[in-house]
Order: sequence, then C-alpha cells, then structure tokens
Amino acid sequence: QTSQVVQVNGGGQSLTADKIVNMMPVTKRNPKDYIFGKVIGEGSYSTVYLAKDIHTNREHAIKVCEKQQIIREKKREQVRREKDALNILSNSGSSLFVKLYCTFQDTERLYFVMSYAKNGDLLPYINKVGSFDAACTRFYSGEILRALEHLHDLNIMHRDLKPENILLDHNMHIKVADFGCSKILEQPEAVDNTTILDENNPRQRTNSFVGTAQYVSPELLTEKTISPSSDLWALGCIIYQMIAGLPPFRSRSEYMLFKKILNLDYVYPDGFNADAKDLVQKLLVLDPNERLGTMDDQRYTSIRSHPFYNGLDFDTLHVTNPPPIY
Ligand code: ADE
Repeated sequence: QTSQVVQVNGGGQSLTADKIVNMMPVTKRNPKDYIFGKVIGEGSYSTVYLAKDIHTNREHAIKVCEKQQIIREKKREQVRREKDALNILSNSGSSLFVKLYCTFQDTERLYFVMSYAKNGDLLPYINKVGSFDAACTRFYSGEILRALEHLHDLNIMHRDLKPENILLDHNMHIKVADFGCSKILEQPEAVDNTTILDENNPRQRTNSFVGTAQYVSPELLTEKTISPSSDLWALGCIIYQMIAGLPPFRSRSEYMLFKKILNLDYVYPDGFNADAKDLVQKLLVLDPNERLGTMDDQRYTSIRSHPFYNGLDFDTLHVTNPPPIY
C-alpha cells in the first residue's frame, strides 16, 4: 500500500502514499489505524503490544490500559505522570528515551503509541552473560548516565530505574522507558542577589513508596524525600549488577531487603573491577547529598570524569557502535 504511486498533474510529479500521509493534516488516531500483534510487555494495569501503523507501515509499541482497572487500582495518577513525562521528553528530541507519538482512547481503554525498542530490555542480557565486561559496563552505564543528565536537567526524576526499564533499540542503544513512577519536580525558583536563602529549606516530600524494592534508595524508605539523587543510587545498583550479575541488595523478604539497604549491607564479589568498585561506592552512599554528582554545577561532570570512564567520549556515545555483549 505504501509503495503505491499516485500520479499527479498528468504524471509530471509522483507521490508515494508515504509522502501523502506526511502531508495530511494530523487527525486523531484510533485503534483501527494499527494492526495489533504480539504482547511485548505487561504491567500491573497495562499491556504493551507490538503494532503496525497501517498508513506508514512503521512498527510501534502500544501500551493499552483498561480504564476500569486504572480506576479500580487507583492508578490514574501513575498514568498521568507517565504521559506528562513522556510528552516533555518526546518534545525534547532526545533519542535516549522511548518516544510518545500519540495517545487516544475508546470507551474501555487508553492507548499510548510509543517507539518500539526491537531488542527488548537489558535484564536478559545481563542474566545471559552473567557479567558484563568493563567495555560493556562503561558503555551502557555511560548511556544511562547521559539519560539521567538529560532527565534531571528537565527536572524529571525517573524513580524506578532498573535493567527492565532500560530498553534496547535496533542498534543496541538504550531507550529509557516506564515513567509511571516518575516525578516532575517544581521548577527551581530563580535565585538572585536579593533572594534570602534558607539553609534549612525543606526538600519536596513525597507521600508514598514508589519504585522497585531492590533499587530503592534509603532516603525514599525513611524520609520519603524527593531528589534526583535517588536515580543516582539506582545507577550505582545497576553498575554493580552489570559486573556482579545480581543487584547489590537481595533478600527473600522486603523487610530484610530494606534493612540491608538502610545498613548499606552488601559485598563485592572477588575480581570486581577496582575502578568500578570505587565508582559504585561513591554512588551507594546513604546521604543523598553526598553521592558523587549531586554537587556538580553541570550534570554529571564528576561522574563522567571518574577513572572508570577514562577514555570514554560521552558526547558521541549515541553515534558510537555499542561494544558486543558476551
Ligand atoms: N516493552 C514495553 N515497552 C516497550 C517498547 N517501547 N519497546 C519494546 N518493548 C517494550
């Protein structure tokens, strides 16, 4: 259908159906504009399908949420957070995040049309090889760091960063997904030389535990304060997991897990890369203000310049061929 050629002005000019679609005024899409295929993801209140746009032939991941279920499980806020964060990120033009193309609804469901990350999520890759080598860990944690720099510059916190939410596109570059737990922080007030700074200015408070237990930061467990630094804790957990094969804090019971996190009770396996160990130690710090990067004027220069990343050009990561994972 898309390769069909339409003759215009007696054949003087030819247009493909693709070009015509691009010229058409954008009307609200509906489920009939897509051919729905296999299920590629399942969440507590949503199912993600691989789907093909019948007009462009492009593949998309479409997240479908049952309205009744959202209301029953009180997930309205989560759905709104995800849409708001994805809209901001999609407009920012970064390729490091799943893009939201459009949303629509029918009587029973909400639909989020997103970019399709062909190679799935990062977790099976870590589990399959057991442990990433230094080059892979450097590259993938470097891309995640760049994503966090972008996110935090836009005052968005992810709050549920983990390997399952790091998707891989057709070129094996990352696309951060799942913004259901995200928080858009209030814009920082402009400070000038007439501003009275309050040293004890309370940080914004959250009201409920969000995220995944194994990657949750100690401050989210105790003070329930909101700070982008919680994503840096999760980054520390992910770097550890890439090298050790398992996340640093593990336990059968959530109670014991939280106790371990609050006591910083974890160990490094023998042979753990020494520079990576130093970096993880500087990220897995109980005080969120003491984590590497938190005091940077420009995000996250002190992490970028850590010896573990020696020789890595962060600015060209997205156009670099990723190292093979084995
Ligand atoms: N699973 C959930 N969201 C996805 C996406 N955008 N691409 C591929 N798999 C997914």
